[in-house]
Amino acid sequence: QNPDKTKLLEAYELTGKLYQYILKNTEQGKQAMQYLRSRGLNDKLIETFGIGYAPAPWDTLSQLLERRQFPLPLMEKGGLLSVRQDGQGYFDKFRDRIIFPIHDWKGRLIAFGGRAMGDAQPKYLNSPESMLFHKSRSLYNIHLARPQIRKKQQIVLFEGYMDVIKAWDTGVINGVATMGTALTEEHAEVIRKQADQVIVAYDGDSAGQNAAYKSIPILEKAGCLVKIAVLPNSQDPDEYITTNGSERFVRDVIEAAVPSIKYKLIHFRKNFKLQEDGDKLRYIQQALKVIADIPSPVEREHYVRELSTEFRLTFEAALQDLNEIRLQSE
Ligand code: GTP
Ligand code: MN
Ligand code: MN
Ligand code: MN
Ligand code: MN
Repeated sequence: QNPDKTKLLEAYELTGKLYQYILKNTEQGKQAMQYLRSRGLNDKLIETFGIGYAPAPWDTLSQLLERRQFPLPLMEKGGLLSVRQDGQGYFDKFRDRIIFPIHDWKGRLIAFGGRAMGDAQPKYLNSPESMLFHKSRSLYNIHLARPQIRKKQQIVLFEGYMDVIKAWDTGVINGVATMGTALTEEHAEVIRKQADQVIVAYDGDSAGQNAAYKSIPILEKAGCLVKIAVLPNSQDPDEYITTNGSERFVRDVIEAAVPSIKYKLIHFRKNFKLQEDGDKLRYIQQALKVIADIPSPVEREHYVRELSTEFRLTFEAALQDLNEIRLQSE
């Protein structure tokens, strides 16, 4: 193995322990601990996810790494330290932030996500791409979720750290997150290797819902069966759980996730005024286009039947239109 890689892994491991220690056992960590409590995280969750706190001074970590004779340029390249303005020496990259350790599937610590507690920008600072951390294929919590993902043949995909952790607390222990970056084909391949089915549970705001919509073809191309969990009132899973509790989250969000086709029909429905005839006809055409893409004839028939019932069309007329659309797209 590459000796730099080994060294960097060792440094992340040590740094993770340092930040956990500071959170739990020092005066500096008190406020961070209070912040985590205010967000509903108990000691057990903090321990399970290895959450820590990077203190405010500029040199807590750089001093330690220097004392332990880690090569500092490598530590900078790996995203633990930054180069000083004057080019002389290094300072800690993560300061006054809650630290969420990010692991690979084997459980090796490869990066951090650091959340500011106040209004400091950016809200989250993540480790940069490195020889350990590849954002386009990393999934937060994959190491803890993997046994349940494989057993259930189902993975739940969230946007952020807090969503994964709060969902874990409700018993949804097959959850991972893409950490803000858009889902890539590489992510989808990683997911497909572990499970048949994916539930996309992104934030209920329009950014989250649009991202969920875009994730569908990426996941389906990799061969996943996709369902979408819809969150009401622009809430994210973390907020929903805080407001409505665990049972409702599991029952009304996760278990109520809708098949991707159904979600597509719901998703663009908002753009039409269905009381108006012109819009209604345009919506029906759009809906038939979505249905026309379904490979299974039985499934196609099911959705045509639903659509024709809703809009009081004869099934035969709807099917005829559908078949014309299918002919056109051949
Ligand atoms: P909380 O406010 O702590 O509940 O975070 P959130 O997860 O609800 O945040 P949001 O929905 O805004 O973002 C989802 C995920 O995107 C986060 O968990 C981060 O991984 C990532 N993210 C959010 N803000 C930033 C940012 O400013 N920079 C970077 N690099 N990533 C971010
Ligand atoms: Mn990369
Ligand atoms: Mn969001
Ligand atoms: Mn969110
Ligand atoms: Mn949130």
